[in-house]
Amino acid sequence: MALLRSCAAGTSSQWALERKSPLFAIGGISVERVRNLFDRLRHGFRVRRLAANSDPSYREYLSVQFERTYSKRNQVPARRSTVLMDRLCELGTPNLDGAVLCIGPRDTFEIESFKRVGFRKVLGIDLLSQGPGVLIMDMHRMTFPDDSFDVVYASHSLEHSYDPARVVGEILRVAKEGAILAVEVPIKFTPQGADRFDFGGVDGVHKLFGAHLDRIVWTDEQPPGSPMNGSGTAVARTIFVIRKGVAGGQG
Ligand SMILES: C[S@@+](CC[C@H](N)C(=O)[O-])C[C@H]1O[C@@H](n2cnc3c(N)ncnc32)[C@H](O)[C@@H]1O
Repeated sequence: MALLRSCAAGTSSQWALERKSPLFAIGGISVERVRNLFDRLRHGFRVRRLAANSDPSYREYLSVQFERTYSKRNQVPARRSTVLMDRLCELGTPNLDGAVLCIGPRDTFEIESFKRVGFRKVLGIDLLSQGPGVLIMDMHRMTFPDDSFDVVYASHSLEHSYDPARVVGEILRVAKEGAILAVEVPIKFTPQGADRFDFGGVDGVHKLFGAHLDRIVWTDEQPPGSPMNGSGTAVARTIFVIRKGVAGGQG
């Protein structure tokens, strides 16, 4: 059940838009630029609301993550790997009526890909929403009720967390008993800026879930630039089933 990569047409650069719309320039500032400014303020305001009642270091964390995501908002996901999603759909024998949560999808690529496979209930959470199905929500403070999701998909997002243990606690809370988790993270890099944690490998990811890891379905580690990993950083991928009620465990 291979997923096909989305080949959405690229968005024109702001420069190109401005050159095409000279009639819409007001006092030397194009309508496009004013619209971008308001758009940025609107999104920034929503992220500041997420940070309400937080200490300064957490506010700074959310601001760094938001700035990174906002700067990449027009990128076309043409080079994004679908290996993890393909394996999940092949090996995870998914129930297409099950609810899927994508953590940090950035745009609608993951949502649309799961829908193409046949999943009907797919939601994403991110600091920026670029389309239907992506809610603005902090992965450390999800507002979903307990036991909401059958599948949790976190591709290149856990390394952006402020507190991985807290995110794992939230995943375990919103996932149903026996839910399937698919995680991909970059490994063997120097954490800096928005990329905060190097979990070292598949074992490092499993360790986060401790006794809640019930059964490993599939794992993979790839060096940078290999046929199964076009990115410039090594990656660890894992698909596993979780168990919620573990004595002395999280969740
Ligand atoms: C590197 S992108 C991953 C995009 C996509 N999942 C992929 O595999 O290419 C990381 C995403 O995590 C989001 N993110 C970072 N911190 C977050 C947080 N605290 N809560 C929710 N999303 C967050 C970022 O906004 C960004 O869209």
